[in-house]
Amino acid sequence: MKIAVTHPDETARRHWVRALAARLPEARVADWPAPEAHGADFAVVWKPPAGFFAAHPALRAVFSAGAGVDHLLRHGDVPATLPVVRLEDAGMARQMIDYCLHAVLRIVLRADAYEAQQRDACWRELAPVARTDLTVGVLGIGALGGQVARALAAAGFRVLGHARSPHRIDGVECLHGDAQLPSFLARTHVLILMAPLTDDTRHLIDARRLALLPRPAWLVNVARGALVDAQALLAALDAGALEGATLDVFDTEPLPPEHPFWRHPRIRVTPHVAAATLVEPSADQVADKIRRLLRGEPITGAVGRDRGY
Ligand code: GLV
Repeated sequence: MKIAVTHPDETARRHWVRALAARLPEARVADWPAPEAHGADFAVVWKPPAGFFAAHPALRAVFSAGAGVDHLLRHGDVPATLPVVRLEDAGMARQMIDYCLHAVLRIVLRADAYEAQQRDACWRELAPVARTDLTVGVLGIGALGGQVARALAAAGFRVLGHARSPHRIDGVECLHGDAQLPSFLARTHVLILMAPLTDDTRHLIDARRLALLPRPAWLVNVARGALVDAQALLAALDAGALEGATLDVFDTEPLPPEHPFWRHPRIRVTPHVAAATLVEPSADQVADKIRRLLRGEPITGAVGRDRGY
């Protein structure tokens, strides 16, 4: 059995090769495009280069080295019948929970305002924001978003979730489908984006949908930059319709130095770090799924090619 690994980051690529070889000693694991990686049975990929799939006509499954698969499906050369599998949590949910809790607690604790006051040596107590004054809405409540919604509810927030299909999460009011999106947005003060990027979700958060948020409202995007229309976001901030935005993901990454997000006083930027892939637990998961596939057993995490996630 042969496994090919392709990843633009050399350290990550080597780590994946080592981690899979240690777990599957019967396999030959090689990083692509080394000649011995051609014609693999399985592949683990992050942003695969053009031509990757043509070089692997016998693949039995391709694993994304992350939770998202847009980096993989956007090329359009992934054979239609090839099973595509995404990582399920693998240590990412805990990181996402921490990032999102931090972003929401900063709002409750008025952190931006106190930091601005400190710059002016200003000692002034501000009215606190009560948890009960804020509804947090998590858009996308799958493997990661569901856990973030649950953790925020456990931390005492009123939490709404929204997904394409019906979900049940203890302590979270779950809405679904296009018809319930406007009422979800109209009740959401802190909108946390955790949905996958697909043809249906590109620029889902546009001027019209931002205008549905109540006041005050904030945006946290830990999913994909292209879910949001950047111009509409800037306009909403400048018009006072949105108090602030915490953005970890961008249409173009790295975010270009001249991009207005960097210097906007009410935008906080982090460089796509809300949930890093942890290679060791991820390799455990991939190796386990490869063994199951070899035994002809079903696996979870398979991407529905028609829905794009
Ligand atoms: C990161 O963005 C991922 O999809 O895991």
